[in-house]
Amino acid sequence: MSCQSHVYVVAGASRGIGLQFVTSLLARGEIVVAIARNPDKAEWLHKLAKDGKNDKKLFIVKGDVADAVSIEVAAKETAKRIPGGYVDVLINNAVYADSTTQGHTLISYPSTDLLISNFTQAFQTNVLGPIVTTNAFIPLLRKGSLKKVFTINSGLADVQLSLKGEIPTFTPYCVTKSALEMTNVKYADEGFTFLDIAPGVVHTSATNLSSPNEEEMSVIMKAAASFKKAYPDWNSLVVKL
Ligand SMILES: NC(=O)c1ccc[n+]([C@@H]2O[C@H](COP(=O)([O-])OP(=O)(O)OC[C@H]3O[C@@H](n4cnc5c(N)ncnc54)[C@H](OP(=O)(O)O)[C@@H]3O)[C@@H](O)[C@H]2O)c1
Repeated sequence: MSCQSHVYVVAGASRGIGLQFVTSLLARGEIVVAIARNPDKAEWLHKLAKDGKNDKKLFIVKGDVADAVSIEVAAKETAKRIPGGYVDVLINNAVYADSTTQGHTLISYPSTDLLISNFTQAFQTNVLGPIVTTNAFIPLLRKGSLKKVFTINSGLADVQLSLKGEIPTFTPYCVTKSALEMTNVKYADEGFTFLDIAPGVVHTSATNLSSPNEEEMSVIMKAAASFKKAYPDWNSLVVKL
C-alpha cells in the first residue's frame, strides 16, 4: 500500500458531513481543498487551518456550487495553490434542503410560487451544483492519479423507498437526489470512477448552528418509520459526528 498523500476537493465543506470528510482526510495525511461559499463564516475550517499539523495540507477556497462562475474561479484557485495543479478525488457534498417545507407533498405545498422556488433552488444546488463543479474540476482531475468523483446522495433518492415506505414528502430533496443518480450515470466515461454514496442518517448538529425544531423533528421521525416499513431490516443506526 502506498503512503503517498492525495489531493481531495470537498465541495460544501463548512459544516456537517463535508467538514467531517475534511477532518478525517487531514487526519489520514491527505491534502484537502475545502470549498465553502462563505469562508469567513466557516469557523470550524479555520480551527483546522490553525492546527500546525495541517500547514500546507488544508486550503480553504471560496466557492458557491449554485454559481458556475464562482466554482470556475474556485477550480482556478485550486490549480494555483496545489503544485502541479492536479486533483485526485472530488467529493460533491453540498446540499439544498429547506427543512421548513419538507413536510409538504407536491399537492399540499402552500403556494405554487413556493413550490417553484424550492425546486429551483434544490435543482440548482443538488443537481447543477455537482455538474458545474465536476466540469470545472475535470481538467485538474485528468492530471491526478485516482480520477474519482464521489457524490453524496441519499437513501431518499430510492424510488422503492418512497413507494413502499409511502413517503410523499421531502419532494424537492427526493426528486433532485434521484436526478443526481442519473447525472452520475451520464458521466460514465473510461478512466474515471463516479460513485454515489448514501451516508445513512447522520446527526450533524455538533457542527450545525441549528437543530431541527419539534415540528421538523416529527417529520424526520415519520420518515424513519417509513424507512422501516419499506426496508424492515433497516437498523435505524444514526451516525453521530
Ligand atoms: N445528514 C444526513 O443524515 C444525511 C443523510 C443522507 C444524505 N445526506 C447528504 O450528505 C450531504 C451533507 O449533508 P449534511 O447533513 O452534512 O448537510 P448540512 O449539514 O446541511 O451541510 C450542508 C453543507 O453544504 C454547504 N452548501 C450548501 N449550499 C451550498 C452552495 N451553494 N455552495 C457551497 N456549499 C453549499 C453548506 O454550507 P453553508 O455553511 O454555507 O450553508 C454546508 O457546508 C448532503 O449531500 C446530504 O444530502 C445527509
